[in-house]
Amino acid sequence: MEEFSNRTYSRKELTAFAEEGILDGRMYKKRLSLFGLFLSAVFIYTACMENAVPSPKEPGADVSGVLLYATNDVHYLAENLHDRGSRFQRLITEQGGKNIDAQEGILEGFRFSVKRESPDIILFNGDLTYNGERESHLAFARYLAELERCGARVYVIPGNHDVNNPLARSFFKERTQHVESASPREFERIYRNFGYAEAISRDRMTLSYAAEPLRGLRLLMLDSNKYRSNWILRRSEVSGAIPQSTRNWIRRVALQAKKDGSLLAVAMHHSLMNHHPWIREGFTVDDAPTLQEVFSELGIAFVLTGHIHVQEISQRRTASGRTVYDIATSALSVYPHQYGVLHLIPGEGRWRYTVQAAEVEAWARSAGIQDERFLRFDRYAEDFFKQDSINMLKRRPEFAFLDSGERRALEELVGVLNTRYYAGTADKNSQDIFQSEGFALLETYRFDFLYDYVQTIIKGIPPGDTELSIPLR
Ligand SMILES: [Fe+2]
Repeated sequence: MEEFSNRTYSRKELTAFAEEGILDGRMYKKRLSLFGLFLSAVFIYTACMENAVPSPKEPGADVSGVLLYATNDVHYLAENLHDRGSRFQRLITEQGGKNIDAQEGILEGFRFSVKRESPDIILFNGDLTYNGERESHLAFARYLAELERCGARVYVIPGNHDVNNPLARSFFKERTQHVESASPREFERIYRNFGYAEAISRDRMTLSYAAEPLRGLRLLMLDSNKYRSNWILRRSEVSGAIPQSTRNWIRRVALQAKKDGSLLAVAMHHSLMNHHPWIREGFTVDDAPTLQEVFSELGIAFVLTGHIHVQEISQRRTASGRTVYDIATSALSVYPHQYGVLHLIPGEGRWRYTVQAAEVEAWARSAGIQDERFLRFDRYAEDFFKQDSINMLKRRPEFAFLDSGERRALEELVGVLNTRYYAGTADKNSQDIFQSEGFALLETYRFDFLYDYVQTIIKGIPPGDTELSIPLR
């Protein structure tokens, strides 16, 4: 995908850019050159000790009470692929909200939550790496091994950025340079301890697999990516699909789970249904209505997804009269840096889904970190994201005739609204938006793309986006 420039873009291109993270951000002051070294010391400080962590539930343990974290779109870039130099500094302002600059702190904050709450299972639902760099995969797998030492079982699937990616690059001085990307076989090898080695069933065509982390619970981890033609296309294909042969395999796994009386939790990177009038092509898996029917018929009530970077739950009542949910958890790399929490509450006969943010400030305080960004992470991260939205707006030619006060009001509106939209809360707390000067300007001028966008976000469509109760079938 090309880098964002000053030309006018279509909606489709803009949504693709947003997903690829090629919208503008703010240049932050240069960081300490010893930052990498400093963080290495921090990792040692906070690492889970073998003898000090709770044991994960044994594979034969019962599913009742199970706590599962669902996270995605980490977009990790290995520290040894950049020098924090001028090209990297430019990169971190071009990420559509992805905070690559603070990724180590975000991952430490997530690990802090894992240590505190001891989830049984953690899913990473694709886009583990920035652009599929082999080095990033290797470094990220080391982080996952640390998470498992904290007492969780970790399972991964690839996203559209992760495999056969011709855009894999390093960033040194003023230059980017091509680096090796992981092939499908390498992906499977690097993450053998995070799903592939313990798979109870594998799909022959894709990197999909089924696992049984606990007695009575099957995970169906679906590879919905189309990386086979990436080298010909010279980019990573954004859209996704589940081939017919994989659907046949899904059917066999789901029927076996039913026969064995096991619950099924299903994850894939791409959306199972549309989440927004703008987030469709390239985001929702191909032939989605048929796939929704297939899942419904197999008794699959929900699918955990990522890819859109927005916190959004959609539902559809299928022909069989059942409701299927697509629970899209927002990107861990994007504000508010949250992840999904799925809890099977004993005796209640239902899954409960909520979201929690990585506890970066709590980690920074407990680890004695001096970096102000991490000590005041909530404010820093919100400002980073808001500024990114504002910078995007600044480039739009439609606003050239506004005076500076009007522009500021509109920028404030978009900054605040985008922040809430990505967090999944825009439909809950938008009364102040209606009273704002920016909204009044929007009502007056009705800027084509922005007016539709704001209206759709504020209205929201049931169910809510940050919590859900799903009865067991
Ligand atoms: Fe993605």
